[in-house]
Amino acid sequence: MNYENKTILTGVKPTGTLHIGNYVGAIKPAIEFGHQVNQNGKHIMFVADYHAINAIKDAPLLRQLTKEIACAYLACGLNPEKSLFYKQSDVPELFEMTTILMAYTPKGFMNKAHAYKAAVDKNIARGEPNDAGINMGLYTYPVLMASDILSYDTDIVRVGKDQVQHVEIAADIAGAINAHYEKEVLKIPASYLTESAQVLPGIDGQKMSQSYHNVIPLFGSDSEIKKTVMSIKTDCQDINDKKNPDDILLYHIARGIAPESVVAEIKEGLEKGGMGYGTIKKMLLQAILDEFSEKRE
Ligand code: ADP
Ligand code: TRP
Repeated sequence: MNYENKTILTGVKPTGTLHIGNYVGAIKPAIEFGHQVNQNGKHIMFVADYHAINAIKDAPLLRQLTKEIACAYLACGLNPEKSLFYKQSDVPELFEMTTILMAYTPKGFMNKAHAYKAAVDKNIARGEPNDAGINMGLYTYPVLMASDILSYDTDIVRVGKDQVQHVEIAADIAGAINAHYEKEVLKIPASYLTESAQVLPGIDGQKMSQSYHNVIPLFGSDSEIKKTVMSIKTDCQDINDKKNPDDILLYHIARGIAPESVVAEIKEGLEKGGMGYGTIKKMLLQAILDEFSEKRE
């Protein structure tokens, strides 16, 4: 894609303590993407803290998570001289714009939003009233997101698959306003889908995720990181057995995070036999500490 003169925007929600899966799948690719935007383009990144209020009502926790994610992006190489980087709640115009957009947004747009529909389906499956536990923040989530996007004349919104519909709704709202005034008041945004990011498995072999309690923390202490790496699930094959690296969880985690030379050494050790899981865990631990110690500081 040609990013010349384009405004590219990404929002991240502060929803949980960060782990190395977030780094591999979200933080690193977002920063690298920012490096591709040329001088005539604009790269915008922000922390969507007001979107997070729908789920997190504990103010000190939300502040902590917001700070943590901002620090993580900066520590991992986001250059605030080159990218515009801010906290959503620091831009009150976004909330004025949200109110204005509401006046042009058909209610039906919200009824068809996947996140809202999924919450209703869950209620129905549990035999609860359709809208049980659903707040207006969740219901109107796409309008705030449209404000995030349309307020900056965004050309391209970089999102994962689950957010594409929200960008389409933003485009529809902009289209409705442009149609009303019969001119281009707002720029119609497009999505850039970040599909290819790899999924890092957690210490039990499922996808690494806060909700599975199987994470290696991004900014844990050395001893926390050591404890989790040492508890990565292994099998009881003999050390001298020749193994297929693709069957070995340690190898999959290493492939996501360790330098190529270390990955190659582990692969060879497994294929030939003779390299124990304890040794591989130590190599992986060292690779993780090498990657994150400085960033953590
Ligand atoms: P969690 O599953 O821990 O709650 P989130 O769903 O908040 O993580 O994910 C935040 C971002 O990090 C998303 O862009 C998601 O794709 C990415 N991500 C989360 N877990 C992983 C993983 N195990 N591997 C790669 N990317 C991940
Ligand atoms: N809803 C997005 C998510 O959950 C975060 C977000 C908020 C966003 N506003 C945005 C993403 C605007 C892109 C553009 O991941």
